[in-house]
Amino acid sequence: MIVLPSILCAGIAVEAAAIRGGSHISRPAEDRYTLPSLSVDVSARAEALRVKREGWQYGPSIAGNTSFYPIGALADVATKADTNALFTFQDKHTANVGIDKQNALEAVNATGGIKSLDEYHKLYDHEWVITVPEGPYIGMLSNYTSDLLFSMERLSTAPASVARVGASDALLFAVDNAASITGLSLKQLQAQGRLFVIDYLDQKDLSRSSDIKFGAACQAYFYIHPESGDFLPLAIKPNVEGSDLVYTPEDEENDWTLAKLMFNLNDLWFTQWFHLAAGHETAEIVYLAAIRTLSEEHPLMPFLHRLMKQAWAMRHSAEQRLINVGGPVDQLFPWAGSSAGVYTDALYQSGLASKFRANYLEANLKSRGLLDGAFGPELKSFPYLEDATLVTDAVRTFMKSFVSSYYLTSDDVTADMELQAWIKEAGPAEIQDFPTAVTDVDGIVDIMTHMCYLVAVQHGVLNSNSPVASTASLPLHPLAFYAPLPTEKGVTDVMQYMPPLAAAVGQISLLAAFNRPQFLDTNQTLSHLFDDSEILARMNPETNKAAAAFRMQMDAFSKVVRSRKFDADGLSQGMPFIWNALDPNRAPYWVTI
Ligand SMILES: *[C@@H]1O[C@H](CO)[C@@H](O)[C@H](O)[C@H]1NC(C)=O
Ligand SMILES: *[C@@H]1O[C@H](CO)[C@@H](O)[C@H](O)[C@H]1NC(C)=O
Ligand SMILES: *[C@@H]1O[C@H](CO)[C@@H](O)[C@H](O)[C@H]1NC(C)=O
Ligand SMILES: *[C@@H]1O[C@H](CO)[C@@H](O)[C@H](O)[C@H]1NC(C)=O
Ligand SMILES: [Fe+2]
Repeated sequence: MIVLPSILCAGIAVEAAAIRGGSHISRPAEDRYTLPSLSVDVSARAEALRVKREGWQYGPSIAGNTSFYPIGALADVATKADTNALFTFQDKHTANVGIDKQNALEAVNATGGIKSLDEYHKLYDHEWVITVPEGPYIGMLSNYTSDLLFSMERLSTAPASVARVGASDALLFAVDNAASITGLSLKQLQAQGRLFVIDYLDQKDLSRSSDIKFGAACQAYFYIHPESGDFLPLAIKPNVEGSDLVYTPEDEENDWTLAKLMFNLNDLWFTQWFHLAAGHETAEIVYLAAIRTLSEEHPLMPFLHRLMKQAWAMRHSAEQRLINVGGPVDQLFPWAGSSAGVYTDALYQSGLASKFRANYLEANLKSRGLLDGAFGPELKSFPYLEDATLVTDAVRTFMKSFVSSYYLTSDDVTADMELQAWIKEAGPAEIQDFPTAVTDVDGIVDIMTHMCYLVAVQHGVLNSNSPVASTASLPLHPLAFYAPLPTEKGVTDVMQYMPPLAAAVGQISLLAAFNRPQFLDTNQTLSHLFDDSEILARMNPETNKAAAAFRMQMDAFSKVVRSRKFDADGLSQGMPFIWNALDPNRAPYWVTI
């Protein structure tokens, strides 16, 4: 039971609206959202905002040293309510994961266990009926040996790190047989803008979780094939201690497969801590700055609350249930939970995950040479761009209608003292790379669209439903290796490195806990991002119209995603698996975990 501070009991409903969940106080529909200049009672609004600001202060970061975590009389109530709500949901969900896990163990036992990589499908076959009913993406198990599947994951399920190598960039390592693989030498691939890189050498010295689990620190090249135009893997250098081995598709199958598995572990580690820093810690601090500067009467505020549902629970969850000593990261990864904290801090503090404008969808892809570059051929297929752009453009269209219906001129934007205070608040909030001046509708649209992108688009691709279906599915993505990694080629059996059955099932269980099959076709999904009857009742007709249009567009896109099939080449979106992370009637609209 939450004890409300007296300020709430005294009937100041304005602050209560900042607390979503349990103590939400409904407002009458005729009580319209307004810009400050149109406020009916300017001084009451200013006083309520002052009280709210007083109750939401910047406290020390938790779960690592990243953005401030809110403290104060109002913040404490809200963060506790969020945390209770998430933990209550998660406890039920985890109990179901336990049931599924037992089924999986028994089913695998009954069929004689898993003796080769080809038998990992046994771990999934109709066993996770409650928590992962659809299993990994179609093709993820049947086509796991495909090099194209491995490389196209960088352009769909795990798109946050790959970058085109510039004409004068220093190369990370040599690949002597590049010409025999691709028809071009490494230098020629680079000169033609066909070469791509991912570098996880920064995972080399992370502190270990135990001495029985192992991981590498891979660097990898990918390339656009000069004839087919396919995006393919060229080479992987694992940087195992005492070894400079470089693996390529010309190696024996076992060696090359193990190299891809080693890379995937590094990639999952990066992707998950990047997601925490970008999707949670960055979005949270922008939200906190908004809470401190925008009145509850301000039209931007309710959509931010809705988007950031239970947001304040997530770092408590990470701290108490993920990276804690002896917790899931310690148990399942080669590196300690504390290393995850350190790694996340670095991604946040360097700006890589936390810079606001630099991480706008298009700006970020351009900065990595993946979009609209003058250098090198275009990517033939780029599923992340395709799906993320469709959704983000629809969000932008909504925002443009919504924002311009409240701000009729640019003067309305510059005259909105609450909005302008939000922009200035980026200073004390220490938001990295936030817009420094917002003088027109587009400036507001950019910020609101990016918040939706971080939470409803990028988060859904990197986390929640995705890992169990793709980036943490077995056999291609083990969370750890259970034998010292080789310093010579000639591996006879990859199975000796693979997680034992209990760990494999533990891995699926952890990611099943992030999965949300119960949201399928409900109002918790992306289609319903703006579909809140209480909010919309207090918004103008243009906003209501735009919200309905958004939902229709998302329903239409959901149909497109659900009709995806393999073509004559066994591909969908140019990939040997069928990707549906951004099906708008499947993906959650909020972070969820
Ligand atoms: C957190 O990181 C910031 C920025 O790098 C640094 O100035 C500060 O000392 C760190 N705080 C703690 C408690 O480590
Ligand atoms: C699986 O089989 C092994 C040995 O046959 C047994 O020790 C273990 O308890 C079984 N596990 C389950 C979940 O049935
Ligand atoms: C979402 O759906 C649930 C279950 O159908 C319903 O109880 C709830 O009121 C809906 N929420 C909104 C905001 O429409
Ligand atoms: C991928 O797997 C599916 C079966 O799940 C198959 O129909 C398709 O041909 C495979 N694609 C490739 C490229 O092998
Ligand atoms: Fe998350």
